[in-house]
This record gives sequence, structure tokens and C-alpha cells, in this order.
Amino acid sequence: MVQKYLVFMVQVHLNFRLAELDSLADLHGIKTVDFTQYQRDSPFFIVELENDEQARKWISRSILTRAIYEYWGQGENYNQLHESVQQNPRFPQFLQEYRNTSFKFEFDSFGGSSSGKVNRVACIESFKYLDFQGPIRMKNPEQIFTVIEEYEPLNDNQAGETPLRLFFGREVQRSDRLRGALEKYDLKKRPYKGTTSFEAELSLVSANIAQVKPGTVMYDPFAGTGSFLTAGGHYQAIVIGSDIDGRMIRGKGTQTIKANFKKYNDSLQFLDVLTMDFTHNALRSDLLIDTILCDPPYGIRESIKVLGAKDPERFVGKENVEINGQKAYLMRDYIPTKKPYSLDALLDDLLHFAAERLPSNGRLAFWMPVANDENIETIIPLHANLELKYNCVQEFNKWSRRLLVYINRGSDFNGPQNVGLERSKERFRDRYFNGFN
Ligand SMILES: C[S@@+](CC[C@H](N)C(=O)[O-])C[C@H]1O[C@@H](n2cnc3c(N)ncnc32)[C@H](O)[C@@H]1O
Repeated sequence: MVQKYLVFMVQVHLNFRLAELDSLADLHGIKTVDFTQYQRDSPFFIVELENDEQARKWISRSILTRAIYEYWGQGENYNQLHESVQQNPRFPQFLQEYRNTSFKFEFDSFGGSSSGKVNRVACIESFKYLDFQGPIRMKNPEQIFTVIEEYEPLNDNQAGETPLRLFFGREVQRSDRLRGALEKYDLKKRPYKGTTSFEAELSLVSANIAQVKPGTVMYDPFAGTGSFLTAGGHYQAIVIGSDIDGRMIRGKGTQTIKANFKKYNDSLQFLDVLTMDFTHNALRSDLLIDTILCDPPYGIRESIKVLGAKDPERFVGKENVEINGQKAYLMRDYIPTKKPYSLDALLDDLLHFAAERLPSNGRLAFWMPVANDENIETIIPLHANLELKYNCVQEFNKWSRRLLVYINRGSDFNGPQNVGLERSKERFRDRYFNGFN
């Protein structure tokens, strides 16, 4: 038998919210969520699920959700709410099931704070027909019953006088967001961070949409200061990163990626990071990689470089230069030559690598910048074996970035492809610094 649940979401990053809910449902094998009822402009979503366990699993990791409740009723005012609760077909069952459990009432709201507007004691009294006989416990009650009020905000800081809508339900699961994930991973409090560090909220959302799973291996080929490694570690994957810039992944003194993992009590999840050009990848070909999650160089803060010589002629015959009898390129302080590379070519390499290395149904997720001031069509990189599952846009003033998420469907898939083609006609870096039109 299915039961009704109320999902209470946050009204931010709306282009990512549905993808997160969909990915988390799929991750837990929950096939029955009817997304036709989902509304982008509302923080509330009523769904049918089999039981509390499904609801718990689904919402526990969510970042763009606050909590999920067993749905008891709703109304435009308290009279309507009480009527709706009492007309719920499961009302007699609710009364029986929660008659003797310890409990408390809580209030939550959307669109402003209800504090001062509602006489909470009187409001709780108005539910006396529930006839709960169990003890009221403010700390660790067995059940929490929640009244959620939806206000139309008068302005950014002020809620309207009376709620537009009210919901009542039994709390089943608070999300990762409500349990403090954003505060825990806040960049301001992170020991090692840099100019390329990715903010906590969207790196955790990315890990959810990429379906990073406990006990699997997640790889970030452009790890930098390790923001995505941190997010993967939070979801208990074993994480490995690489970066062409050894200084970035090594950090300095006590400010290292390893120190971040220690602070978060996730040290066991951190496999290692290595200095490596992604396009000359040295990871063993039989190393299993379940998920790839990254933020490739856009060429904004760092130019895109790979190992090699811009002018190879200059180096002919110099491969074997020796210093004190030792080959120069084998010395610890040898700095290899690098040459510029295009974002298109780098993303092609990333798609090829993912198609070759990910297991069937494994996900590749990466961020791609786009200038959106001119009517230039954004061409999304496509590989024949990778299904493009999500294309979530984060808009800034004159540019945007997209989280592109692909699923490896294997060589039988044969989807559309554009690898090897020049896709980005404008040079993003030049335009970022010289001004968009
Ligand atoms: C946008 S940053 C990623 C930042 C990272 N998410 C963080 O948390 O700091 C891109 C990174 O790619 C690295 N990179 C550039 N070219 C590379 C290459 N060919 N192979 C590996 N890493 C490369 C840069 O050194 C930079 O650290």
C-alpha cells in the first residue's frame, strides 16, 4: 500500500533541485516517485511512497530539501487544516498508532518566520482531537509532529500577516542540509582552500546528482584544493584526485587536503592525490573508478596546459640531457615543459576517459562555463557511449556554468556525438577578463 508524504524543499538552485531528487530516488531504487506533481515555484511536493524507510533513504542525503513528513493534511486556514487531517482516510490508523508514543510539536515556515504571529500554545491545543496520551518530550521524542506555514513574503525580510497555506505531518527524515552539512563544509571554516575552491552547497549537490555511493571509488582529475573530493568523502566514497599543479594538491604546512579530511572525520575516505597531467593519465587501467566528478580548468584563474612542448622542434635531441650523470627528466626538481591546450580537447579527453573507465551506468559529472551574452548556441560535449542525463545551469550576470551529468551506457548505446569538433568558438578566458558584450 502506498502512503502520502510531504517533501519540504528550499527555493534555491531550482535548476538543480529536481535532478537531485531524481538522482537520489534512483540511487535508492525508488521507482515510484511521480514527478508530474512537482512544481518548480513551490517548496512543497506531495508524493506517494511505500513506507517511511523509502522516505528516509530518499531524503536523508538531500541538500536542496529540508525534510520529509508523513502527510496528514493541509488547508488555507487552521479550520480547513483540522478538517483535512480528520478526513484523511488514514486518520483512524494515525490515532491508534501514535496514541501512546512520546512526542512534541514543532513549527516551521516558508516565506518568513511565523514567530509572534501564531499563538503556538493555542495552536497545539487546537489539535486536541488527536487525543495523544503519550508523554510530551522536548528532547528525543519518538515522534515530532510539525505544522508548516507558508507565507507570501511582504519583502525580503518580512513575512505576510497570515499564512497562505498550512500543512500538518509527522516528521520522517530531516535532510543532510537540516542536519548541518552546509555549516560543516563551509569554506570559511575549511583549513585548506584556495581561489579555485568550490562552495560547499553545490559541491554536495553535485555529488548527489553524480550518485557518489558509499564504498565506491570517486576520482577528480582536476582536484585543485579538493572541494569535490571532500564532498565525495562526505558521502563515504573512497576518493582519489590528481592535478597538473603539484602545489595545489600538496597545500602548505597544516593546510592540506588531508588536513581537511581529518577535520571532517573523513580521513578513511581519502585515498590520495597525485601530481599528473590528466591527458597523460598514469592511473592503472584496471583501477576501478565508479564515478568521476570535477571542475575542469576553464582557463580563467589558471590557463589550460598539458605536458608537451609548444615548439617541439626546439627540443629535438635534448631528450637525453644529463646533469651529473643523471637524466635531467628523472630528477626530483625537473619541471617538465607544458603547452597550451583547448577546453574542447580537454573535455573530449574527459568524455573518452569516462567512456573507457566507468562501469556500465557509472556517472561522469563536470562543470562547464558558458558565456551567455551573445546569441551563440551552447554546444554540449557529447560522446556516443555516454547518455547526457542532466544539464543544470547556474546563472551569473553575464556568464553561466553548467553541471553536465552523463551515464556510461557502453558501446551498444550509440548516441549523438560531437567529440573532435570545435564547440566553443569564443575564448571564454579572454572574454571573462576583457568584458562580455
Ligand atoms: C577549476 S580548477 C578545479 C578546482 C578544484 N575543484 C578545487 O576544489 O580547488 C581546475 C584545476 O585543474 C588543474 N589542471 C589544469 N590543467 C590540468 C591538466 N592537464 N591535468 C590535470 N589538472 C589540470 C589546475 O591546476 C586546477 O587546479
